[in-house]
Amino acid sequence: MKNLRYYIKDSLKKGYSLGAYNFVSLEILKGICEGCKKSNSPCLTSISEGGFSYLGEDFMLPTFKTAKKHYQIPIFLHLDHGKSFEICKKAVDLGFDSVMIDGSSLPFNENIALTKKVVEYAHQHNVLVEAELGVLAGVEDTVSAEKSIFTNPKDAKYFVEQTGCDSLAVAIGTSHGAYKFKGESTLRFDILSQIEELLPNYPLVLHGASTVPQKYVALVNQFGGEVSGAKGVDEKLLLEASAKHNIYKINTDTDIRLVYFATLRQHLKENPKNIDLRNFNLLAIQNIAEYVAERNTNVFKCANKI
Ligand code: G3H
Ligand code: 13P
Ligand code: ZN
Repeated sequence: MKNLRYYIKDSLKKGYSLGAYNFVSLEILKGICEGCKKSNSPCLTSISEGGFSYLGEDFMLPTFKTAKKHYQIPIFLHLDHGKSFEICKKAVDLGFDSVMIDGSSLPFNENIALTKKVVEYAHQHNVLVEAELGVLAGVEDTVSAEKSIFTNPKDAKYFVEQTGCDSLAVAIGTSHGAYKFKGESTLRFDILSQIEELLPNYPLVLHGASTVPQKYVALVNQFGGEVSGAKGVDEKLLLEASAKHNIYKINTDTDIRLVYFATLRQHLKENPKNIDLRNFNLLAIQNIAEYVAERNTNVFKCANKI
């Protein structure tokens, strides 16, 4: 099976991106893998620090390894938003394919120093390192920022040269969570192009890239949830980022949460007597698989790239 380095190069050469889908449960992991199997796509499955401690490493790692063996597709395990050297070291020692050290909230020089330390350790073990520069608006359980600060292209070049990181997450207008834009969704492709001029052929990463499909927002709201006004990144912008820019990896978490909760809420409302979780979890796996296959095929264009 080809490794992650191969797919990074291939995606830049052919103008597609890899989906990096977050998982926190066996059901979500199965849904992602079944979707990738359907579309014949390579992908990264990401686990955040919060997801890591929720699942527990003793459960998470064997679950991932079993999924990879079972589905026989190139899925790579990635640590998402690691905030310390220690958590990245733990992921490297456990055999992750790739780790993200997120020092984006630190002063520039401290971000460089921390990233460099992780790169030195990870590279000794042949593990790839993603870093982040700039600040994404939005709130996650371990990552929060009131306002976004776009990545400065000159800083990005200096940062990559100093740290030796393998890919860089850039802030160009996306944000984490379900409420990304009040009006029209826009991204700063001008900044992205400037970064690409200074760092030619260098793999970049887009976080906060959920499109927040209105079909699922409507279902959540219809069946007792409250996510009115939720709005994501326009699919066309993701298509452009993927096809015309060096974005090799596109992170998606919120959309899968929405698919899962739309399924769960609808099922519980329509089947009040059900007390067997398998009934809705099987549907959720199916719906996540359908979402992932569609996304890989029509937006990330990584279908049939195995
Ligand atoms: O940005 C990454 C994910 O959305 C992480 O979310 O920290 O709540 O697992 P989490
Ligand atoms: P979303 O909240 O847009 O799904 O972003 C997820 C993400 O960036 C994970 O790192
Ligand atoms: Zn993120």
